[in-house]
Amino acid sequence: MILIVDFGAQYSQLIARRVREANVYCEIIPYTSSIDKIKEKNPNGIILSGGPASVYAENAPKISHEVFELGVPVLGICYGGQFIAQEFGGKVNRADFREYGKVKLDILSDEGLFKGVNQDTLCWMSHTDYIETAPEGFEITAKSDTCPVGAMKNDEKKIYAVQFHPEVEHTERGREVLNNFLFNICKMPEDWTMGNFAEESVARIKAQVGDKKALCALSGGVDSSVAAVMVHKAIGPNLICVFVDHGLLRKDEGDQVEKVFKEKFNMNLIRVNAGERFLGKLAGVTEPEQKRKIIGEEFIRVFEEEKQKLKSEFGHIDYLVQGTIYPDVIESGTATASVIKSHHNVGGLPEDVDFELLEPLRQLFKDEVRQVGRELGIPEEIVERQPFPGPGLAVRCLGEVTEEKLKIIREADFIFRDEIKKANLQNKIWQYFAALPNIRSVGVMGDERTYSHAIALRAVHSTDGMTSDWARIPYEVLEKVSNRIVNEVDNVNRIMYDITTKPPATIEFE
Ligand code: XMP
Repeated sequence: MILIVDFGAQYSQLIARRVREANVYCEIIPYTSSIDKIKEKNPNGIILSGGPASVYAENAPKISHEVFELGVPVLGICYGGQFIAQEFGGKVNRADFREYGKVKLDILSDEGLFKGVNQDTLCWMSHTDYIETAPEGFEITAKSDTCPVGAMKNDEKKIYAVQFHPEVEHTERGREVLNNFLFNICKMPEDWTMGNFAEESVARIKAQVGDKKALCALSGGVDSSVAAVMVHKAIGPNLICVFVDHGLLRKDEGDQVEKVFKEKFNMNLIRVNAGERFLGKLAGVTEPEQKRKIIGEEFIRVFEEEKQKLKSEFGHIDYLVQGTIYPDVIESGTATASVIKSHHNVGGLPEDVDFELLEPLRQLFKDEVRQVGRELGIPEEIVERQPFPGPGLAVRCLGEVTEEKLKIIREADFIFRDEIKKANLQNKIWQYFAALPNIRSVGVMGDERTYSHAIALRAVHSTDGMTSDWARIPYEVLEKVSNRIVNEVDNVNRIMYDITTKPPATIEFE
Protein backbone atom coordinates (compact mmCIF):
# COMPACT_ATOMS: atom_id res chain seq x y z
CA MET A 1 0.00 0.00 0.00
CA ILE A 2 0.86 3.66 -0.31
CA LEU A 3 0.91 5.74 2.85
CA ILE A 4 -0.05 9.41 2.68
CA VAL A 5 1.29 11.55 5.49
CA ASP A 6 -1.13 14.42 6.07
CA PHE A 7 0.57 17.71 6.87
CA GLY A 8 -2.83 19.41 7.19
CA ALA A 9 -3.49 19.77 3.49
CA GLN A 10 -6.86 20.61 2.11
CA TYR A 11 -6.04 18.12 -0.65
CA SER A 12 -4.96 15.01 1.31
CA GLN A 13 -8.17 13.15 0.66
CA LEU A 14 -7.96 14.11 -2.98
CA ILE A 15 -4.48 12.58 -3.22
CA ALA A 16 -5.86 9.41 -1.66
CA ARG A 17 -8.79 9.30 -4.08
CA ARG A 18 -6.47 9.69 -7.06
CA VAL A 19 -4.29 6.82 -5.82
CA ARG A 20 -7.34 4.63 -5.27
CA GLU A 21 -8.71 5.54 -8.71
CA ALA A 22 -5.48 4.11 -10.09
CA ASN A 23 -6.48 0.85 -8.36
CA VAL A 24 -3.82 1.12 -5.68
CA TYR A 25 -4.71 0.89 -2.01
CA CYS A 26 -3.60 3.76 0.22
CA GLU A 27 -4.21 5.15 3.68
CA ILE A 28 -3.86 8.61 5.20
CA ILE A 29 -2.13 9.13 8.53
CA PRO A 30 -1.49 12.37 10.43
CA TYR A 31 2.04 13.76 10.53
CA THR A 32 2.01 13.22 14.29
CA SER A 33 2.27 9.43 13.70
CA SER A 34 5.34 7.70 15.10
CA ILE A 35 7.87 6.00 12.88
CA ASP A 36 6.87 2.67 14.45
CA LYS A 37 3.31 3.19 13.32
CA ILE A 38 4.57 3.90 9.80
CA LYS A 39 6.77 0.79 9.81
CA GLU A 40 3.84 -1.27 11.03
CA LYS A 41 1.88 -0.28 7.92
CA ASN A 42 4.71 -1.61 5.77
CA PRO A 43 4.10 0.81 2.88
CA ASN A 44 5.54 0.35 -0.62
CA GLY A 45 5.72 4.11 -1.07
CA ILE A 46 5.08 7.27 0.94
CA ILE A 47 3.52 10.55 -0.15
CA LEU A 48 4.08 13.63 2.01
CA SER A 49 1.13 15.96 1.49
CA GLY A 50 1.00 19.71 1.22
CA GLY A 51 -0.03 21.85 4.15
CA PRO A 52 -0.67 25.45 5.13
CA ALA A 53 2.41 25.89 7.34
CA SER A 54 5.85 27.23 6.51
CA VAL A 55 8.84 24.98 7.24
CA TYR A 56 10.17 27.95 9.22
CA ALA A 57 7.10 28.20 11.46
CA GLU A 58 7.67 27.51 15.13
CA ASN A 59 5.51 24.40 15.23
CA ALA A 60 6.03 23.40 11.63
CA PRO A 61 4.66 19.90 11.03
CA LYS A 62 7.42 17.32 10.80
CA ILE A 63 7.73 13.60 10.37
CA SER A 64 10.65 11.46 11.51
CA HIS A 65 13.66 11.60 9.15
CA GLU A 66 13.61 7.79 9.26
CA VAL A 67 10.85 7.76 6.61
CA PHE A 68 13.63 8.45 4.15
CA GLU A 69 15.57 5.43 5.34
CA LEU A 70 12.89 2.77 4.99
CA GLY A 71 14.10 1.92 1.49
CA VAL A 72 10.75 2.85 -0.12
CA PRO A 73 10.19 5.76 -2.53
CA VAL A 74 8.99 9.05 -1.03
CA LEU A 75 7.16 11.78 -2.94
CA GLY A 76 6.74 15.21 -1.35
CA ILE A 77 4.01 17.51 -2.67
CA CYS A 78 4.21 21.28 -2.03
CA TYR A 79 4.87 21.58 1.72
CA GLY A 80 5.94 17.91 1.67
CA GLY A 81 8.51 18.83 -1.00
CA GLN A 82 9.74 21.85 0.96
CA PHE A 83 10.09 19.64 4.01
CA ILE A 84 12.28 17.26 2.00
CA ALA A 85 14.39 20.19 0.74
CA GLN A 86 14.93 21.41 4.27
CA GLU A 87 15.69 17.97 5.72
CA PHE A 88 18.43 17.41 3.13
CA GLY A 89 20.05 20.82 3.36
CA GLY A 90 18.42 22.65 0.43
CA LYS A 91 17.06 26.16 0.72
CA VAL A 92 13.40 27.07 1.11
CA ASN A 93 12.59 30.71 0.52
CA ARG A 94 9.81 32.82 1.95
CA ALA A 95 8.01 34.60 -0.89
CA ASP A 96 6.30 37.91 -0.34
CA PHE A 97 3.11 36.79 -1.98
CA ARG A 98 1.20 33.61 -2.52
CA GLU A 99 1.37 32.03 -5.96
CA TYR A 100 -2.02 30.59 -6.72
CA GLY A 101 -3.36 29.25 -9.97
CA LYS A 102 -2.30 27.68 -13.25
CA VAL A 103 1.34 28.01 -14.13
CA LYS A 104 3.39 26.81 -17.09
CA LEU A 105 5.84 24.15 -16.00
CA ASP A 106 9.05 23.42 -17.87
CA ILE A 107 9.87 19.77 -17.52
CA LEU A 108 13.56 18.91 -17.72
CA SER A 109 13.33 15.16 -17.47
CA ASP A 110 11.55 12.43 -19.42
CA GLU A 111 11.80 9.61 -16.93
CA GLY A 112 10.76 8.84 -13.39
CA LEU A 113 7.83 11.07 -12.41
CA PHE A 114 7.77 12.71 -15.83
CA LYS A 115 7.95 9.67 -18.08
CA GLY A 116 5.73 10.34 -21.09
CA VAL A 117 4.72 13.84 -19.91
CA ASN A 118 5.05 16.78 -22.32
CA GLN A 119 7.87 19.22 -21.80
CA ASP A 120 5.52 22.16 -21.42
CA THR A 121 2.46 21.59 -19.37
CA LEU A 122 0.13 23.58 -17.13
CA CYS A 123 0.12 22.80 -13.46
CA TRP A 124 -1.68 24.10 -10.39
CA MET A 125 0.33 26.00 -7.81
CA SER A 126 -0.82 27.09 -4.38
CA HIS A 127 2.06 28.13 -2.18
CA THR A 128 3.88 30.98 -0.49
CA ASP A 129 7.24 29.36 0.32
CA TYR A 130 9.16 27.66 -2.46
CA ILE A 131 12.30 25.58 -2.85
CA GLU A 132 15.03 27.94 -3.96
CA THR A 133 18.00 25.59 -4.01
CA ALA A 134 17.84 21.82 -4.32
CA PRO A 135 19.87 19.91 -1.72
CA GLU A 136 23.13 18.29 -2.72
CA GLY A 137 22.59 15.03 -4.53
CA PHE A 138 19.23 16.19 -5.91
CA GLU A 139 18.61 16.92 -9.57
CA ILE A 140 16.14 19.59 -10.67
CA THR A 141 13.55 17.96 -12.94
CA ALA A 142 11.14 20.86 -13.59
CA LYS A 143 10.99 24.61 -13.15
CA SER A 144 8.62 27.50 -13.72
CA ASP A 145 9.06 31.26 -14.01
CA THR A 146 8.69 31.68 -10.27
CA CYS A 147 9.97 28.33 -9.00
CA PRO A 148 13.59 27.49 -9.77
CA VAL A 149 12.86 24.02 -8.37
CA GLY A 150 9.42 23.04 -9.67
CA ALA A 151 10.39 19.42 -9.09
CA MET A 152 13.50 17.56 -7.97
CA LYS A 153 14.68 14.01 -7.42
CA ASN A 154 17.33 11.87 -5.91
CA ASP A 155 17.18 8.55 -7.75
CA GLU A 156 19.64 6.82 -5.49
CA LYS A 157 17.64 7.59 -2.37
CA LYS A 158 14.35 7.31 -4.30
CA ILE A 159 13.17 10.69 -3.07
CA TYR A 160 11.02 12.97 -5.24
CA ALA A 161 9.49 16.38 -4.68
CA VAL A 162 7.10 18.59 -6.62
CA GLN A 163 6.11 22.17 -5.88
CA PHE A 164 2.83 21.88 -7.81
CA HIS A 165 -0.27 19.79 -7.02
CA PRO A 166 -0.50 16.72 -9.28
CA GLU A 167 -3.72 15.63 -7.52
CA VAL A 168 -5.95 18.51 -8.69
CA GLU A 169 -7.78 18.51 -12.03
CA HIS A 170 -6.17 21.81 -13.08
CA THR A 171 -2.79 20.12 -13.36
CA GLU A 172 -3.09 18.84 -16.91
CA ARG A 173 -0.84 15.82 -16.62
CA GLY A 174 -1.24 15.37 -12.87
CA ARG A 175 -2.67 11.88 -13.06
CA GLU A 176 0.24 10.72 -15.19
CA VAL A 177 2.71 12.19 -12.71
CA LEU A 178 1.02 10.39 -9.81
CA ASN A 179 0.67 7.18 -11.80
CA ASN A 180 4.35 7.35 -12.69
CA PHE A 181 5.11 7.50 -8.98
CA LEU A 182 2.84 4.53 -8.29
CA PHE A 183 3.74 2.26 -11.17
CA ASN A 184 7.04 3.42 -12.62
CA ILE A 185 8.74 4.21 -9.31
CA CYS A 186 6.94 2.19 -6.59
CA LYS A 187 6.09 -0.72 -8.95
CA MET A 188 2.64 -1.13 -7.43
CA PRO A 189 0.26 -3.75 -8.77
CA GLU A 190 -3.18 -2.50 -9.86
CA ASP A 191 -5.14 -4.74 -7.57
CA TRP A 192 -7.45 -2.40 -5.62
CA THR A 193 -10.80 -2.86 -7.34
CA MET A 194 -14.25 -2.77 -5.83
CA GLY A 195 -15.09 -6.16 -7.31
CA ASN A 196 -12.14 -7.69 -5.45
CA PHE A 197 -12.97 -5.71 -2.34
CA ALA A 198 -16.57 -6.90 -2.25
CA GLU A 199 -15.62 -10.51 -2.81
CA GLU A 200 -12.82 -10.54 -0.24
CA SER A 201 -14.91 -8.69 2.33
CA VAL A 202 -17.79 -11.14 2.05
CA ALA A 203 -15.37 -14.04 2.53
CA ARG A 204 -13.71 -12.32 5.49
CA ILE A 205 -17.02 -11.55 7.21
CA LYS A 206 -18.17 -15.14 6.66
CA ALA A 207 -15.02 -16.46 8.31
CA GLN A 208 -15.18 -13.95 11.16
CA VAL A 209 -18.87 -14.21 12.06
CA GLY A 210 -19.35 -17.92 11.34
CA ASP A 211 -22.80 -18.93 12.54
CA LYS A 212 -23.15 -16.10 15.03
CA LYS A 213 -25.75 -13.37 14.60
CA ALA A 214 -25.47 -9.74 13.63
CA LEU A 215 -27.79 -6.77 13.95
CA CYS A 216 -27.88 -3.77 11.63
CA ALA A 217 -29.65 -0.45 11.97
CA LEU A 218 -30.69 0.20 8.40
CA SER A 219 -31.56 3.76 7.43
CA GLY A 220 -31.88 3.27 3.69
CA GLY A 221 -28.93 5.63 3.14
CA VAL A 222 -26.10 4.47 0.88
CA ASP A 223 -23.64 3.47 3.59
CA SER A 224 -25.87 1.40 5.85
CA SER A 225 -27.53 -0.20 2.81
CA VAL A 226 -24.24 -1.33 1.28
CA ALA A 227 -22.94 -2.56 4.65
CA ALA A 228 -26.14 -4.52 5.25
CA VAL A 229 -26.20 -6.16 1.82
CA MET A 230 -22.54 -7.10 2.14
CA VAL A 231 -23.01 -8.73 5.53
CA HIS A 232 -26.18 -10.39 4.28
CA LYS A 233 -24.22 -11.97 1.41
CA ALA A 234 -21.86 -13.35 4.01
CA ILE A 235 -24.20 -14.63 6.72
CA GLY A 236 -27.70 -14.65 5.16
CA PRO A 237 -30.61 -14.90 7.63
CA ASN A 238 -28.28 -14.55 10.60
CA LEU A 239 -28.28 -10.83 9.84
CA ILE A 240 -31.28 -9.02 11.28
CA CYS A 241 -31.90 -5.49 10.05
CA VAL A 242 -33.91 -3.04 12.05
CA PHE A 243 -35.29 -0.11 10.10
CA VAL A 244 -36.61 2.57 12.42
CA ASP A 245 -39.03 4.70 10.42
CA HIS A 246 -39.16 7.87 12.50
CA GLY A 247 -41.82 9.40 10.29
CA LEU A 248 -39.38 12.04 9.08
CA LEU A 249 -38.47 10.39 5.79
CA ARG A 250 -39.13 11.67 2.29
CA LYS A 251 -42.18 10.72 0.27
CA ASP A 252 -42.57 6.91 -0.05
CA GLU A 253 -39.04 6.38 1.22
CA GLY A 254 -39.96 4.00 4.04
CA ASP A 255 -41.94 1.74 1.70
CA GLN A 256 -39.18 1.80 -0.87
CA VAL A 257 -36.53 0.73 1.64
CA GLU A 258 -38.73 -2.06 2.92
CA LYS A 259 -39.52 -3.28 -0.56
CA VAL A 260 -35.96 -3.34 -1.84
CA PHE A 261 -34.48 -5.12 1.14
CA LYS A 262 -37.31 -7.56 1.76
CA GLU A 263 -38.24 -8.40 -1.80
CA LYS A 264 -35.06 -7.97 -3.78
CA PHE A 265 -32.61 -9.20 -1.19
CA ASN A 266 -34.95 -11.35 0.86
CA MET A 267 -33.46 -9.91 4.01
CA ASN A 268 -34.59 -10.38 7.56
CA LEU A 269 -35.91 -6.83 7.98
CA ILE A 270 -37.96 -5.46 10.81
CA ARG A 271 -39.59 -2.12 10.11
CA VAL A 272 -40.60 -0.18 13.18
CA ASN A 273 -43.17 2.47 12.38
CA ALA A 274 -42.44 4.94 15.10
CA GLY A 275 -43.66 8.12 13.41
CA GLU A 276 -46.36 8.92 15.94
CA ARG A 277 -44.02 8.30 18.80
CA PHE A 278 -41.43 10.73 17.41
CA LEU A 279 -44.00 13.39 16.58
CA GLY A 280 -45.38 13.07 20.10
CA LYS A 281 -41.96 13.74 21.56
CA LEU A 282 -41.43 16.68 19.19
CA ALA A 283 -44.77 18.34 19.91
CA GLY A 284 -44.33 21.97 20.89
CA VAL A 285 -40.53 21.86 20.46
CA THR A 286 -39.05 24.60 18.27
CA GLU A 287 -35.41 24.90 19.33
CA PRO A 288 -33.24 23.23 16.61
CA GLU A 289 -30.68 21.58 18.88
CA GLN A 290 -33.39 20.27 21.16
CA LYS A 291 -35.21 18.78 18.20
CA ARG A 292 -32.06 16.97 17.10
CA LYS A 293 -31.40 15.71 20.61
CA ILE A 294 -34.91 14.37 21.04
CA ILE A 295 -34.73 12.52 17.72
CA GLY A 296 -31.29 11.09 18.50
CA GLU A 297 -32.37 9.86 21.92
CA GLU A 298 -35.67 8.47 20.78
CA PHE A 299 -33.93 6.64 17.97
CA ILE A 300 -31.66 4.91 20.42
CA ARG A 301 -34.57 4.07 22.70
CA VAL A 302 -36.58 2.46 19.90
CA PHE A 303 -33.55 0.54 18.72
CA GLU A 304 -32.78 -0.70 22.25
CA GLU A 305 -36.34 -1.92 22.68
CA GLU A 306 -36.18 -3.82 19.41
CA LYS A 307 -32.88 -5.30 20.40
CA GLN A 308 -34.35 -6.62 23.65
CA LYS A 309 -37.27 -8.17 21.78
CA LEU A 310 -34.92 -9.75 19.28
CA LYS A 311 -32.75 -11.21 21.98
CA SER A 312 -35.64 -13.15 23.39
CA GLU A 313 -36.62 -14.29 19.91
CA PHE A 314 -33.22 -15.01 18.31
CA GLY A 315 -30.96 -15.50 21.30
CA HIS A 316 -27.66 -13.73 21.78
CA ILE A 317 -26.57 -11.30 19.05
CA ASP A 318 -22.82 -10.85 18.82
CA TYR A 319 -22.25 -8.21 16.17
CA LEU A 320 -23.52 -4.76 15.33
CA VAL A 321 -23.11 -3.74 11.68
CA GLN A 322 -22.36 -0.07 11.01
CA GLY A 323 -21.86 1.83 7.77
CA THR A 324 -18.86 3.83 8.96
CA ILE A 325 -16.78 5.02 5.98
CA TYR A 326 -13.19 6.21 5.59
CA PRO A 327 -13.72 10.00 5.85
CA ASP A 328 -15.27 9.35 9.31
CA VAL A 329 -12.17 7.42 10.34
CA ILE A 330 -9.34 9.58 9.02
CA GLU A 331 -7.57 11.45 11.71
CA SER A 332 -6.69 14.66 9.92
CA GLY A 333 -3.34 16.42 10.18
CA THR A 334 -5.12 19.57 11.33
CA ALA A 335 -7.91 17.79 13.20
CA THR A 336 -10.37 20.52 12.27
CA ALA A 337 -12.33 18.44 9.78
CA SER A 338 -13.39 15.85 12.32
CA VAL A 339 -14.70 18.42 14.80
CA ILE A 340 -17.21 19.93 12.39
CA LYS A 341 -18.57 16.53 11.49
CA SER A 342 -19.14 15.25 15.00
CA HIS A 343 -22.64 16.66 15.34
CA HIS A 344 -23.68 14.59 12.40
CA ASN A 345 -23.55 11.48 14.45
CA VAL A 346 -26.78 12.47 16.12
CA GLY A 347 -29.00 9.49 15.67
CA GLY A 348 -25.99 7.22 15.78
CA LEU A 349 -26.02 4.28 18.10
CA PRO A 350 -24.66 4.10 21.61
CA GLU A 351 -21.56 2.09 22.23
CA ASP A 352 -22.81 -1.13 23.60
CA VAL A 353 -20.49 -3.52 25.40
CA ASP A 354 -22.70 -6.40 24.32
CA PHE A 355 -21.72 -6.03 20.70
CA GLU A 356 -18.64 -6.35 18.65
CA LEU A 357 -18.68 -3.79 15.82
CA LEU A 358 -18.66 -4.92 12.22
CA GLU A 359 -17.75 -1.99 9.96
CA PRO A 360 -17.00 -3.45 6.54
CA LEU A 361 -16.74 -0.08 4.75
CA ARG A 362 -14.23 1.58 7.09
CA GLN A 363 -11.58 1.70 4.38
CA LEU A 364 -13.73 3.20 1.64
CA PHE A 365 -14.47 6.63 0.24
CA LYS A 366 -18.06 7.41 -0.71
CA ASP A 367 -17.59 6.82 -4.43
CA GLU A 368 -16.01 3.47 -3.63
CA VAL A 369 -18.95 2.56 -1.38
CA ARG A 370 -21.27 3.29 -4.30
CA GLN A 371 -19.18 1.11 -6.59
CA VAL A 372 -19.22 -1.76 -4.09
CA GLY A 373 -22.99 -1.33 -3.89
CA ARG A 374 -23.25 -1.79 -7.64
CA GLU A 375 -21.00 -4.86 -7.50
CA LEU A 376 -23.38 -6.29 -4.91
CA GLY A 377 -26.38 -5.65 -7.17
CA ILE A 378 -28.00 -2.83 -5.17
CA PRO A 379 -30.39 -0.80 -7.36
CA GLU A 380 -29.17 2.52 -8.68
CA GLU A 381 -31.89 4.50 -6.86
CA ILE A 382 -30.30 3.49 -3.56
CA VAL A 383 -26.65 3.52 -4.62
CA GLU A 384 -26.97 7.03 -6.06
CA ARG A 385 -28.92 8.48 -3.13
CA GLN A 386 -27.96 11.97 -2.11
CA PRO A 387 -26.94 12.55 1.50
CA PHE A 388 -29.91 12.70 3.85
CA PRO A 389 -29.56 13.81 7.47
CA GLY A 390 -30.22 11.34 10.30
CA PRO A 391 -32.92 13.57 11.87
CA GLY A 392 -34.60 13.64 8.47
CA LEU A 393 -37.14 16.24 7.47
CA ALA A 394 -37.18 17.64 11.00
CA VAL A 395 -34.12 19.77 10.16
CA ARG A 396 -35.94 21.09 7.08
CA CYS A 397 -39.15 21.88 8.94
CA LEU A 398 -38.43 25.03 10.91
CA GLY A 399 -40.32 25.65 14.09
CA GLU A 400 -42.54 22.91 15.47
CA VAL A 401 -42.63 19.66 13.49
CA THR A 402 -46.21 18.75 12.62
CA GLU A 403 -47.73 16.17 10.33
CA GLU A 404 -49.33 18.93 8.27
CA LYS A 405 -46.01 20.70 7.65
CA LEU A 406 -44.23 17.41 6.94
CA LYS A 407 -46.83 16.59 4.32
CA ILE A 408 -46.20 19.89 2.54
CA ILE A 409 -42.43 19.38 2.57
CA ARG A 410 -42.75 15.80 1.30
CA GLU A 411 -44.90 16.78 -1.65
CA ALA A 412 -42.83 19.85 -2.57
CA ASP A 413 -39.60 17.91 -2.22
CA PHE A 414 -40.93 15.12 -4.40
CA ILE A 415 -41.78 17.59 -7.18
CA PHE A 416 -38.37 19.26 -6.94
CA ARG A 417 -36.58 15.92 -7.16
CA ASP A 418 -38.79 14.82 -10.01
CA GLU A 419 -38.03 17.92 -12.09
CA ILE A 420 -34.31 17.72 -11.35
CA LYS A 421 -34.37 14.18 -12.65
CA LYS A 422 -36.38 15.14 -15.73
CA ALA A 423 -33.80 17.86 -16.46
CA ASN A 424 -31.11 15.19 -16.05
CA LEU A 425 -29.36 17.18 -13.33
CA GLN A 426 -29.55 14.54 -10.61
CA ASN A 427 -25.91 13.51 -10.90
CA LYS A 428 -24.62 17.04 -11.29
CA ILE A 429 -25.87 18.38 -7.97
CA TRP A 430 -24.59 17.06 -4.63
CA GLN A 431 -27.81 17.65 -2.70
CA TYR A 432 -31.18 19.24 -3.44
CA PHE A 433 -34.32 19.45 -1.39
CA ALA A 434 -37.30 21.50 -0.27
CA ALA A 435 -37.56 23.02 3.19
CA LEU A 436 -40.33 24.80 5.01
CA PRO A 437 -39.06 28.01 6.63
CA ASN A 438 -42.18 28.40 8.72
CA ILE A 439 -43.28 31.70 7.26
CA ARG A 440 -46.70 32.35 5.87
CA SER A 441 -47.32 35.16 3.48
CA VAL A 442 -50.18 36.76 1.60
CA GLY A 443 -50.93 35.68 -1.93
CA VAL A 444 -53.76 35.66 -4.39
CA MET A 445 -55.24 32.62 -6.09
CA GLY A 446 -58.23 32.94 -8.41
CA ASP A 447 -59.83 36.03 -6.92
CA GLU A 448 -59.16 34.94 -3.40
CA ARG A 449 -56.64 36.21 -0.93
CA THR A 450 -54.50 33.42 0.50
CA TYR A 451 -52.33 33.29 3.57
CA SER A 452 -50.16 30.21 3.12
CA HIS A 453 -46.76 28.66 3.60
CA ALA A 454 -43.61 29.51 1.68
CA ILE A 455 -41.31 26.76 0.44
CA ALA A 456 -37.57 27.20 0.16
CA LEU A 457 -35.67 25.20 -2.43
CA ARG A 458 -32.03 24.43 -1.81
CA ALA A 459 -29.59 22.81 -4.23
CA VAL A 460 -25.86 22.76 -3.62
CA HIS A 461 -22.58 21.63 -5.08
CA SER A 462 -20.12 20.18 -2.60
CA THR A 463 -17.51 17.47 -2.35
CA ASP A 464 -17.72 16.58 1.31
CA GLY A 465 -20.50 18.68 2.83
CA MET A 466 -17.99 20.88 4.66
CA THR A 467 -18.35 23.78 2.23
CA SER A 468 -20.82 24.29 -0.56
CA ASP A 469 -21.91 26.59 -3.33
CA TRP A 470 -25.48 26.94 -4.55
CA ALA A 471 -26.29 25.26 -7.85
CA ARG A 472 -27.03 27.49 -10.84
CA ILE A 473 -30.13 25.58 -11.87
CA PRO A 474 -31.54 26.83 -15.18
CA TYR A 475 -34.43 29.28 -14.70
CA GLU A 476 -36.70 27.10 -16.82
CA VAL A 477 -36.30 24.23 -14.38
CA LEU A 478 -36.93 26.48 -11.38
CA GLU A 479 -39.95 27.90 -13.14
CA LYS A 480 -41.43 24.46 -13.68
CA VAL A 481 -40.79 23.43 -10.09
CA SER A 482 -42.35 26.62 -8.80
CA ASN A 483 -45.45 26.25 -10.96
CA ARG A 484 -45.94 22.65 -10.05
CA ILE A 485 -45.54 23.17 -6.32
CA VAL A 486 -48.04 26.03 -6.05
CA ASN A 487 -50.49 24.13 -8.24
CA GLU A 488 -50.12 20.67 -6.80
CA VAL A 489 -49.37 21.21 -3.13
CA ASP A 490 -52.10 22.60 -0.90
CA ASN A 491 -51.34 25.49 1.37
CA VAL A 492 -48.29 26.84 -0.45
CA ASN A 493 -48.33 30.19 -2.26
CA ARG A 494 -44.68 31.22 -2.48
CA ILE A 495 -41.43 29.55 -3.63
CA MET A 496 -37.96 30.85 -2.82
CA TYR A 497 -34.56 29.67 -4.00
CA ASP A 498 -31.72 29.73 -1.47
CA ILE A 499 -28.59 31.38 -2.89
CA THR A 500 -26.25 31.23 0.10
CA THR A 501 -22.97 29.41 0.18
CA LYS A 502 -21.66 27.42 3.15
CA PRO A 503 -20.18 29.15 5.04
CA PRO A 504 -21.87 31.34 6.21
CA ALA A 505 -25.05 29.25 5.86
CA THR A 506 -25.17 25.49 6.38
CA ILE A 507 -26.58 23.10 3.82
CA GLU A 508 -29.54 22.09 5.98
CA PHE A 509 -31.74 24.74 7.55
CA GLU A 510 -31.30 23.61 11.16
P1 XMP B 1 -24.84 21.08 7.20
O1 XMP B 1 -26.30 21.37 7.36
O2 XMP B 1 -24.13 20.92 8.51
O3 XMP B 1 -24.78 19.65 6.49
O4 XMP B 1 -24.15 22.03 6.28
C1 XMP B 1 -23.66 19.10 5.87
C2 XMP B 1 -24.03 17.74 5.33
O5 XMP B 1 -24.33 16.83 6.40
C3 XMP B 1 -25.68 16.39 6.31
N1 XMP B 1 -26.23 16.40 7.68
C4 XMP B 1 -26.39 15.31 8.44
N2 XMP B 1 -26.13 14.01 8.20
N3 XMP B 1 -26.92 13.45 10.38
C5 XMP B 1 -26.43 13.08 9.16
O6 XMP B 1 -26.24 11.88 8.94
C6 XMP B 1 -27.18 14.75 10.70
O7 XMP B 1 -27.61 15.06 11.79
C7 XMP B 1 -26.90 15.73 9.67
N4 XMP B 1 -27.03 17.07 9.62
C8 XMP B 1 -26.59 17.46 8.39
C9 XMP B 1 -26.38 17.35 5.41
O8 XMP B 1 -27.50 16.76 4.78
C10 XMP B 1 -25.28 17.75 4.46
O9 XMP B 1 -25.09 16.78 3.45
